[in-house]
Amino acid sequence: MSRILIVYYSATGRTRQVAELIQKTIGGNLVSIRTKVPYSNELLARWKDGHREVKDEILPELNDFPVDLNQYDVIFLGTPVWWYSVALPMKKFLVTHDLSGKIIFPFLTGDNAAGNAFYDLVGSLENCFVKTGLQVRFIENRQITSDWQIQNWAKTAVEKS
Ligand SMILES: Cc1cc2nc3c(=O)[nH]c(=O)nc-3n(C[C@H](O)[C@H](O)[C@H](O)COP(=O)(O)O)c2cc1C
Repeated sequence: MSRILIVYYSATGRTRQVAELIQKTIGGNLVSIRTKVPYSNELLARWKDGHREVKDEILPELNDFPVDLNQYDVIFLGTPVWWYSVALPMKKFLVTHDLSGKIIFPFLTGDNAAGNAFYDLVGSLENCFVKTGLQVRFIENRQITSDWQIQNWAKTAVEKS
């Protein structure tokens, strides 16, 4: 059995919920990426309306990551979509942590417009074995991708790794 870690960033709870469902389904350890200074709801709402502002924003400082990545072979990596790309804290995590040699299953949550997010994520995962990812879609706060689809994807992922 592979050693599985589920790593996620979540600003408003959706990606956390998906990560928790994955853990409930396949086991493994769960850990979140946390910014030293959490983003306020006001800032997130402003950024959601302001593409340029997010693009020009520097990557945030993160809390020390509390897990030794060497202990894991398979990593589920979850992030919200921010302006058709990966959320800034996940970008920061990827430039400050070495995931080379790992089997990676990426997952996204967003309002149905992932844009380049998978492409950008995979581009940051040099020397990894990146496998089929999952986009968990929401429309007007309704989860469109079913829990069953999420669980099925996660189970298949583990069977293959
Ligand atoms: C700054 C910002 C930009 C966003 N840009 C997009 C986007 O380009 N496409 C999309 O589908 N959803 C976008 N969203 C919506 C989030 O991806 C969605 O609410 C996500 O599921 C939130 O995950 P969380 O609750 O784990 O933080 C954006 C949200 C924020 C705050």
